[in-house]
Amino acid sequence: MCGIIGYIGHKQAYDILLEGLKRLEYRGYDSAGIAVQDSKSHKIELNKAVGHVEKLKKKELKGTIGLGHTRWATHGKPTLENAHPHLDCSGDIAVVHNGIIENFLEIKDSLKNHKFVSDTDSEVVAHLIEKNYSGDLRQAVIDSINELYGTYALCVMHKDHDEIVVARNGSPIVIGIGDNENLVASDVSALVEHTKRVIYLDDLEIAVLKKDSVEIFDKNGKRIDKKETVIDWDLTHAEKAGYKHFMLKEINEQPDVIRNTLNVELPEIKKDYKNIFIAACGTAWHAGLVGKYIIEKQARIPVHAETASEFRYSNPIIGKDDLFIAISQSGETADTLAALRLAKENGAKTLGIINVMNSTIARECDDVIYTRAGIEIGVASTKAYTSQLIVLYMLAEQLSGESIEGLENVASNVQEVLEKNHISDVAKKYFRVYNFLFIGRNLNFPTALEGALKLKEISYIHAEGYAAGEMKHGPIALVTDQVPTVAIAPKDSVYSKMVSNMQEIKARNGRIIAVATEGDKQITQYADDVLYIPNVNELLTPLLTVIPLQLLAYKIAEMRDCDVDKPRNLAKSVTVE
Ligand code: F6R
Repeated sequence: MCGIIGYIGHKQAYDILLEGLKRLEYRGYDSAGIAVQDSKSHKIELNKAVGHVEKLKKKELKGTIGLGHTRWATHGKPTLENAHPHLDCSGDIAVVHNGIIENFLEIKDSLKNHKFVSDTDSEVVAHLIEKNYSGDLRQAVIDSINELYGTYALCVMHKDHDEIVVARNGSPIVIGIGDNENLVASDVSALVEHTKRVIYLDDLEIAVLKKDSVEIFDKNGKRIDKKETVIDWDLTHAEKAGYKHFMLKEINEQPDVIRNTLNVELPEIKKDYKNIFIAACGTAWHAGLVGKYIIEKQARIPVHAETASEFRYSNPIIGKDDLFIAISQSGETADTLAALRLAKENGAKTLGIINVMNSTIARECDDVIYTRAGIEIGVASTKAYTSQLIVLYMLAEQLSGESIEGLENVASNVQEVLEKNHISDVAKKYFRVYNFLFIGRNLNFPTALEGALKLKEISYIHAEGYAAGEMKHGPIALVTDQVPTVAIAPKDSVYSKMVSNMQEIKARNGRIIAVATEGDKQITQYADDVLYIPNVNELLTPLLTVIPLQLLAYKIAEMRDCDVDKPRNLAKSVTVE
């Protein structure tokens, strides 16, 4: 979602902020802006644009202190007025904000003499700080956050202060420590070009950045010591490396990601939990659904895999004898974080399967297993998904005490799928349709959901994933020669059931793309096109069947000229509910 970058130092801020905003583009946004404290007049100068960050290039502002922001619209449309940074009435204070201020209307009402120019919740923060300011910017920010309800990562500057004041509650923000310069950003990808030394702020902490110092305070203004972390990746991870899109690069990185994740050491996990609860969103939830099948099959422990947004409001029956697992690429997803906090309140032991080191969910779980996917830039999650699956397989092994045959070779199997399939030919046949169905059973029912999600989010084709056994209970009514079905039908224990479903679709003129096991000739009788995976242990098929579906979604989106890495309306890290 929204992205923040701030700079204070000895260099011109504008280019650094612009570059930072470009690095944050992958998070999803619809307008952008930069504020710089002018080096001569000390006035705060603004430049804003609706649409791409690139538009900010046209005008350069001079100064060595500044804030930048990419906005993903929540309160009010993507307009220049609603774009950040926001100013107070005097124009002396500039604020950028991520999160949602829940009591913004009450605050707005109470600030009677102030003139508001936007529809946003964020603008009220600038005016609130104006009201509370009497010469000490840090104190004005502390006094103001005491009046706020909701979530925020806030960065504030004032024309008369050579400092940036930062505050956090619920929305991630990280400080980059430089040499005679300091930065702040909503994630490390915007900082890594300048420094690898970072400090992650926790909720209700305030930081004051000057050119040559960073001080952290609690909400009462008492100084606190925070540990620096050195991040272990560099800019090459955030480049396309010759690929047309990050998504394609990330799909192709999966064999390495799987190998790296298989080397992760798991924490010691008790084997006698009564229940395991998995909560996650979107693709990570699909990984959780596969995890349910695998862990239940192997370890015979009941597993409940729910979307975090449902779990958190379901008054779940979870307690100290249960294990709660949060799965999240970003480690910042608001619903998953809330589900985790609820599970903790109920006394459950908590475990995170997280990609981004030191993210909020990772820090709040009792134990964390880091997937080794590396930074995922494409908004559509691919390599994070397969790495989450790998951790779930490893967990199933640990909980059952038995190894899963073939897991050690699965990276090579994925490589084979990436090399062998003729996805472009298939994509060419179908890229103009308006609707798609995806069906699968058992372990590959979640693959059907994931295949449909990938296709809809990047190509904007309406796609639904179903448990194949549900077809007769409604969705088969949709089948015509204009609504193709992707049938995930590897040679497994439910193969014959899948074949029956495919025959029923064929009998109604439906076109079928099957994902099947190499050597399966029979399938060609029912499928118009077949995408093959190698013959592996049934338990491992979800790791392979998803690969052609990722590629199919990618190719179709590319043929439809869609913005693959930044699909409309979507954000990479969903930090608001
Ligand atoms: C889909 C996708 C989303 C995320 C979901 C959870 O391709 O990327 O559905 O999986 O928003 O995000 P994380 O894993 O960061 O919690």
